Amino acid sequence: MASPFLHLLLLSLSSISLLKISADTTTDSSSNTTHLHFFIHDTQSGSNPTAVQVTTGPTKLKGSTGPGFGSMFMIDDPLTESPDITSNTVGRAQGFYAHAGLSGTELLLSANIVLTGGDYNGSTITVFGRDNYADSVRELPVIGGSGKFRMARGYMLIKTNSSNLATADAVLDVDLYVSNGENGVVDESVPPSGGSTSTGGATSKTTGASSNGSILLCPNYVAILVMSCFLAKHLIFGI
Ligand SMILES: *[C@@H]1O[C@H](CO)[C@@H](O)[C@H](O)[C@H]1NC(C)=O
Ligand SMILES: *[C@@H]1O[C@H](CO)[C@@H](O)[C@H](O)[C@H]1NC(C)=O
Ligand SMILES: *[C@@H]1O[C@H](CO)[C@@H](O)[C@H](O)[C@H]1NC(C)=O
Ligand SMILES: *[C@@H]1O[C@H](CO)[C@@H](O)[C@H](O)[C@H]1NC(C)=O
Repeated sequence: MASPFLHLLLLSLSSISLLKISADTTTDSSSNTTHLHFFIHDTQSGSNPTAVQVTTGPTKLKGSTGPGFGSMFMIDDPLTESPDITSNTVGRAQGFYAHAGLSGTELLLSANIVLTGGDYNGSTITVFGRDNYADSVRELPVIGGSGKFRMARGYMLIKTNSSNLATADAVLDVDLYVSNGENGVVDESVPPSGGSTSTGGATSKTTGASSNGSILLCPNYVAILVMSCFLAKHLIFGI
């Protein structure tokens, strides 16, 4: 399990640590962006691993005894404020990474960043994208969120902070830039854990969206029916 590739992989994945929910944010003055900085600890070794290999790809990576194309690891990695694993814990990275590139270093990383600290306790940010751990900085899209990050969009930057090639354990330095919804403003009425306790404000937004959907669907549906009738008439009766 201790191949260099594996190590690098682990490094890439394991450095989600603490969220410094810094108000230091707003890299773009025209948007309301929250910047989260933390380290991921991805640990395959020892008696309490947080990254566990669940599939083994049939193809070995070139020049490596490590996991090949198709290999997959489930993770539940702790996130801390500093590279020190004993520093303040701010959440978990729960999901998986899989060797998705035949060339060897490209991972598909799919994870929920589950925040457990302060105002964001219970909120999640979902990331899904390409993590080529041969690159010094990897960018992954934020594809959504829950609670305080409902409707989230943004991106996550991953850098390997340290890695152990012998154990494949790694610490990743992560910067997450997130904004909510259309104007980037967090809906203060939504509780961190989101879900059924959400308020009327959020519910009425949902209703508006779905009723517009129906209105839009109807004309399309009717148009398709009418076109079908004309076509059938033409084909069958030649008129
Ligand atoms: C976060 O929420 C959980 C569940 O509601 C609670 O048990 C825990 O104490 C909270 N943690 C913090 C740091 O507020
Ligand atoms: C790891 O993170 C710490 C804290 O941010 C930083 O001081 C150090 O330079 C980083 N090391 C590497 C190799 O990036
Ligand atoms: C940022 O948030 C403020 C309110 O907090 C809002 O007035 C402003 O329009 C937002 N900016 C953008 C670009 O949506
Ligand atoms: C739904 O339609 C209403 C009225 O036309 C509009 O104000 C609202 O913005 C629409 N909502 C969405 C989600 O498109």
